[in-house]
Amino acid sequence: MANWIKVVTTQEVPVMGSRKVVVGEIEIAIFKTKSENIHAVNNTCPHKQGKLSEGIVHDEEVTCPMHNWVIDLNSGEATGGDCGCTEVYETKVEDEIVYLKLG
Ligand code: FES
Repeated sequence: MANWIKVVTTQEVPVMGSRKVVVGEIEIAIFKTKSENIHAVNNTCPHKQGKLSEGIVHDEEVTCPMHNWVIDLNSGEATGGDCGCTEVYETKVEDEIVYLKLG
């Protein structure tokens, strides 16, 4: 059965920015794009563990602050010629509250 957990309110995530949350031992970055779409991905860059929550959000992607890999926020995959993937989590928004689907 789906396990939805409440993490933040939509107002707590800046547009074209992120908010870091910790669920159990997993650090998750919640992003809000310019179009106000919400995404949740593991906060760890698949390259060398840069913190994606500190990256720059553009379109539906984030650029890692460490070495500028661009990660697709829908798939968690590195774009361009880079190869790697971080975990993405399904989200839903109800009454301005962001829920993550885990398990
Ligand atoms: S750690 Fe993210 S690009 Fe290198």
